[in-house]
Amino acid sequence: MFITVVFCCVPYGVFAKVAGVCSNCHIMHNSQNGAAVDPDGANERLTTDSCVGCHSDTSSNTIRSNSIPIVFNSSQPSSPLAGGNFYWMVNQSDHRFGHNVQSIAGADSNITYVPGRHIGSDYTLTISDCFNCHSVGFSPGYPGIPFTIQRSGNVMICQDCHTQVMHHADDSETVVDETGGWYRFLYGVKGIEDPDWQKTVSESDHNEYQGEPSAYGNSISDAGCGCHGDFHALKDPGGVGTASPWLKHPVDVALPSEGEYASYTAYNTETPVARPDLSGYAGPSSVVTPGTDQVMCISCHRPHGSDRPDMLRWDYNTIIAGGGANNSGCFVCHSTKDDGL
Ligand code: HEC
Ligand code: HEC
Ligand code: HEC
Ligand code: HEC
Ligand code: HEC
Ligand code: HEC
Repeated sequence: MFITVVFCCVPYGVFAKVAGVCSNCHIMHNSQNGAAVDPDGANERLTTDSCVGCHSDTSSNTIRSNSIPIVFNSSQPSSPLAGGNFYWMVNQSDHRFGHNVQSIAGADSNITYVPGRHIGSDYTLTISDCFNCHSVGFSPGYPGIPFTIQRSGNVMICQDCHTQVMHHADDSETVVDETGGWYRFLYGVKGIEDPDWQKTVSESDHNEYQGEPSAYGNSISDAGCGCHGDFHALKDPGGVGTASPWLKHPVDVALPSEGEYASYTAYNTETPVARPDLSGYAGPSSVVTPGTDQVMCISCHRPHGSDRPDMLRWDYNTIIAGGGANNSGCFVCHSTKDDGL
């Protein structure tokens, strides 16, 4: 098969820094004509609303007219953005469909302890345990450290993942790093930011995710999913394994260049891969190179939430071994398991 390398010509990231008059987003005293602008109280850095407030919408639209990317719609989102949406968790009253973020949902009704994070022999740490230690050692909002900011009980807040929020950073470089406020304000993560957050998405129009050749190399699965470090092959080789046969599903590990993996060559936006080195990329590529490109946490999950249990990108119940050609989900990589070969 002949493969065309498609690099898009738009300079990526140029739209991702805030613009406009200050008063669109800031209020000096949380007071206008004598009434509070945010009735819930004044916000840090004098913003007109909270993180959840600015990034939520009652319509199904996922980018508001003033260019705010929406992660929580209260009507079913028409084109959910790359990270997914908190809509389903709330609409279906089912905590399996999203991360439990304060003012969107209460404590998780299924998961009591943070999965994939232990200290010594303690595998039963709650969010409150994380907070009780981090809030002593680190100031609130310390970059790279989740659970430093007060919340009520065992819930997350947006800044547990987006630990360095920098709306005014210049992220016009193709590969966004620390200067640009990291990839999507995820401390330590590099990447190429699709300008409409994948509201429109295709093989040649998408984010590019950083993988890594060794642990602590700025990948979205390593730094971005740091709370679940025990699930990461390079950070916990003892627990996950170092090669087939694996003990847990690996991430930041290359798709083998042979066998069933070799046929994943055209980028599938429902089952994306990470690139161990993005520095040669001028923009999104429609090509997947087995032997180099890697499986990542968000090959299978949406970090905010999805319409599937376990925040999966696709319905696991319809991925049936020997169930006939079905080039989706697990089968995009495990390409021979669908037809029973
Ligand atoms: C006053 C409204 C407002 C508030 C408050 C606000 N944001 Fe944003 N946010 C925006 C806008 C507007 C953008 C889009 C900027 C752009 O790319 O043009 C944005 C973009 C983002 C992005 C995407 C960044 C990127 O690289 O594309 C993230 C992540 C984010 N915000 C998280 C947060 C978090 C976390 C908070 C709370 C600490 C927060 N926001 C508070 C308005 C707001
Ligand atoms: C589209 C929304 C938006 C506009 C317009 C905007 N800001 Fe901000 N600004 C934010 C958000 C959200 C934060 C808080 C989160 C953060 O620091 O990224 C922020 C943070 C800040 C901060 C503290 C952090 C820093 O980067 O220094 C200052 C100061 C600031 N803004 C000044 C301004 C001024 C002055 C203007 C007008 C010239 C302006 N902003 C226009 C959204 C906006
Ligand atoms: C006994 C104190 C303590 C507890 C409890 C604790 N941490 Fe930490 N954590 C630390 C310290 C100290 C650091 C910074 C040093 C380091 O990187 O290990 C840290 C760093 C981190 C980091 C950033 C570095 C990395 O590994 O990616 C993450 C993520 C993290 N902790 C998650 C958690 C989670 C999730 C919990 C609860 C399940 C938790 N921590 C509980 C003390 C603690
Ligand atoms: C569990 C970690 C996590 C939590 C909690 C979280 N985010 Fe995100 N967010 C991410 C990741 C990872 C991405 C990048 C997704 C991608 O590019 O595929 C992202 C992307 C975004 C974007 C860009 C749009 C998109 O979907 O790519 C915005 C805006 C944003 N987050 C805002 C928020 C706000 C506001 C909250 C709190 C209501 C929040 N996030 C909570 C991890 C998280
Ligand atoms: C983005 C590609 C990708 C997706 C999607 C994917 N996998 Fe994998 N999977 C891999 C890679 C790469 C390996 C490691 C292969 C190796 O090292 O030989 C692997 C390994 C495995 C293994 C262990 C094999 C062994 O030899 O130990 C199992 C079982 C597995 N995957 C099942 C699944 C299931 C079930 C799904 C869907 C929920 C899935 N995978 C989705 C890429 C993927
Ligand atoms: C190959 C696809 C795939 C990859 C890659 C993957 N997951 Fe999962 N994950 C799943 C599936 C499927 C489930 C639910 C069913 C199961 O556990 O077999 C799940 C469940 C989970 C759960 C819920 C566990 C519980 O106790 O209920 C967490 C947390 C999680 N994944 C985090 C991660 C993190 C973090 C990464 C990256 C380090 C990751 N996943 C990578 C497919 C994947």
